[in-house]
Amino acid sequence: MQKKYLIANWKMHKTVQEATAFMQALLPQLEAVDPSQLALCIAPSFVHLPAIAALIDGHESIRPLSLVAQNCHHAAEGAFTGEVSAAMLASIGVSGVLIGHSERRIYQKEDHLLLAKKIKRVLASGMQPFFCCGESLEARRHGSHKTMVQQQLEESLSGLTTQEIEKLAIAYEPVWAIGTGQVASIEAITEMHTFIRQMVSTQYGTERVPILYGGSCNPQNAKAIFDAPHVAGGLVGSASLQVDPLMKMVAALLG
Ligand code: PGA
Repeated sequence: MQKKYLIANWKMHKTVQEATAFMQALLPQLEAVDPSQLALCIAPSFVHLPAIAALIDGHESIRPLSLVAQNCHHAAEGAFTGEVSAAMLASIGVSGVLIGHSERRIYQKEDHLLLAKKIKRVLASGMQPFFCCGESLEARRHGSHKTMVQQQLEESLSGLTTQEIEKLAIAYEPVWAIGTGQVASIEAITEMHTFIRQMVSTQYGTERVPILYGGSCNPQNAKAIFDAPHVAGGLVGSASLQVDPLMKMVAALLG
């Protein structure tokens, strides 16, 4: 059985004290969860990573927890004031990085070329890239959602070998569903996940890349989404900010 993923993308939320309290409440609840079935990834702000790494240190073998960063720079190191390198993240126990989240594509103007470089850098640092893709509302309205996602995947993943692509996870996140409460329908999710699965399989000859769904996932809709074909889990924003809804989504994923 393929491992399931649930990523808690906290975005720019929580103080370090709030993040620590969250983790202290979460850790005991994970004791009963089989780590071979689930990767529960906490993706907090950079600022919180060392404190959370210290809290989960030594527990990785019994708990399905890992740390994911929300971003990193594409260069190995250098004169880039205010930036964080992949090597810095790996050195404190971060195991994955979100790449290409639509909020960074929109607000930081990150383009396909830059994202391709970031993916390479994350892989070179021994971490897992979580590559986010998804169509805009306009593309969905014009029926060009598949073309847009295909382009995002082709332009940022084209330089990768099969061995490299198998280290990735892809998150399909329609932009119009993120933070809006407007979750995609099961039909739309199935259509896009099947499309992405076929694309990756045709181009790289592998079915081993997990494809996650993101965009207004919550405890009420999670089970139907996670049961849809080719959905290996979720990338969750606002519903991941409290322990109770997050654990309900863990239950939906494993149930
Ligand atoms: P949301 O965010 O769950 O709040 O819609 C998802 C995401 O941005 O990854």
